[in-house]
Amino acid sequence: EDQRTAAPLAFATIAPVAADVDDVTVPRGYRWDAILRWGDPLFPGVPNLTATGTTAADQAKQFGYNCDYLDIIVDKGSTTKAVLVANHEYTNENIMFAPDTDAETIARTAWAAHGLSVVELRRAAAGKPWRYVVGGRRNRRITLDSTTFAVDGPAAGSTLLQTPADPTGKAVIGTMNNCSGGTTPWGTVLSGEENFHQYFYAAGTTPQEARYGLGTSGDSRRWRDFDHRWDATSAAGANEPNRFGWIVEVDPQNPTSTPVKHTAMGRLKHEGANVIIAANGKVVAYMGDDERFEYVYKFVSRDRYDGSGTAAARAKNKRLLSNGDLFVARFTGDGLEDGISDGTGVWLPLTKAGASVVPGMSIEEVLVYTRLAADTVMPTKMDRPEDVQPSLKSRRIYVACTNNSKRTATDIDEANPRPANKDGHIVEIIETNNSNTASTFRWNLLLICGDALSAGTYFGGYTGPVSPISCPDNLAFDSTGHLWISTDGQPGSIGLADALHHVALAGPERGRVRQFLAVPAGAETCGPVIHDKDGSVFVAVQHPGEDGSWEAPQSLFPDFVTPGSTPPGGREVRRPPTEHRPGH
Ligand code: FEO
Ligand code: CA
Ligand code: CA
Ligand code: CA
Repeated sequence: EDQRTAAPLAFATIAPVAADVDDVTVPRGYRWDAILRWGDPLFPGVPNLTATGTTAADQAKQFGYNCDYLDIIVDKGSTTKAVLVANHEYTNENIMFAPDTDAETIARTAWAAHGLSVVELRRAAAGKPWRYVVGGRRNRRITLDSTTFAVDGPAAGSTLLQTPADPTGKAVIGTMNNCSGGTTPWGTVLSGEENFHQYFYAAGTTPQEARYGLGTSGDSRRWRDFDHRWDATSAAGANEPNRFGWIVEVDPQNPTSTPVKHTAMGRLKHEGANVIIAANGKVVAYMGDDERFEYVYKFVSRDRYDGSGTAAARAKNKRLLSNGDLFVARFTGDGLEDGISDGTGVWLPLTKAGASVVPGMSIEEVLVYTRLAADTVMPTKMDRPEDVQPSLKSRRIYVACTNNSKRTATDIDEANPRPANKDGHIVEIIETNNSNTASTFRWNLLLICGDALSAGTYFGGYTGPVSPISCPDNLAFDSTGHLWISTDGQPGSIGLADALHHVALAGPERGRVRQFLAVPAGAETCGPVIHDKDGSVFVAVQHPGEDGSWEAPQSLFPDFVTPGSTPPGGREVRRPPTEHRPGH
């Protein structure tokens, strides 16, 4: 903290960290601590992890696995109370369970380990570390097998969403593969259901299944052995894949509220959704579909935001994402003669006023098979668009295109300018008249990522030294409008541990990338949450050591207890939070 004098979050750039360092590396003068770990009990009387892992019943009341989206929402008028919201994208069964655990226990526990957690936090005073509260009033686990989601919007109740267990097509049990997300101005949390295809066994013979990657291979978890809904070739499971791939909305302030799946926002492999209130009061959500050669989308609400702050206004705002128009982006380059990747773009409508604008497709088909609808209007195939986030300060939008190994020299374009793009890039979008409801925009590549050895790198015009950066994924802004970029894949692309980077967006340092932290071996950096006025940064350390095994772990984060210590694996040992403070 002694380094933080001039600005709220001044820091000395850290050196890049080798991929095998099993530690969190932070700048000089900072320290780090774990707030919540997989398996931490959220309710009184719930056990911790045991020497053999956990059970489905316990997991449903413990913090879940592999967090991606993260927010820490400080209570209004307080500096010492908050709720933490994290989602639990997927499970690493190979390191979660002792080898002799039976298959059904593994499956059922994994269902409970997916979903989201809402957990109350407390601290002694502003600037002190947050601690989580066992049994906090708002504590909640949302899981894949216990939580009912209401389906809303124009496709709710569609025959495409009906199943024998839910003939209404309006009530889905669970959410899964929740990747990134966003917190709305009305205080709810959005989360994207991303790679849902990998949980299903399907014939894969229809264009609809094929377009979403559903097929006979890939459901390595074999959940269909324990619940037929995961078998899309069965009557029970035929429409079940259509019930995932949505943006979900959760109200963390009300633990008994029913979370919602918003069909108006389309069905993709949703990375997440980030909302801004346009000047005319409509809310605009920006969204990525994270797969190679997929598209960037925007949703514009039918109704206007009510900022009066009353309970009635909040209830109204919670329905803003239920009705609106859906668009997909086409980026056109203006040529590379000017030396930069930039150009103009257009938002191509897929729905208007609750109706389809795609010939031959009903509104329900456009929303359930959004990728197929988008294909008809020729949007730009991007290099895996992950987080798409508007700056609330400048209203500009930033798209993290994480990488694309399959881009070839013949299909490059100015917005995706590198073949075999291993390092990714960041697109900056400026809407016409800076209006977020505009139908056209200008764009440029803020960053073309890489290290000193990568071809074609560009750092927003900044020519001084920068930190190497590869595979940008989750984005966030601090209160001063600087961009923070977390990475997922630096070990494979540039041989470095995944990182969190700070990037200036304006002034002479625009494009200057400075590394703030590195995550432990095998992990990607998720979150992030930047409370710069508080001198704090929060990240979700996802899948540390995921290529290891139960017997031979590759990461001991966050407790760093040696395997073979007593108790076995150290899995019942929790170090006091203040003992281990790397970074000093
Ligand atoms: Fe779950 Fe697109 O990362
Ligand atoms: Ca150009
Ligand atoms: Ca991601
Ligand atoms: Ca990623």
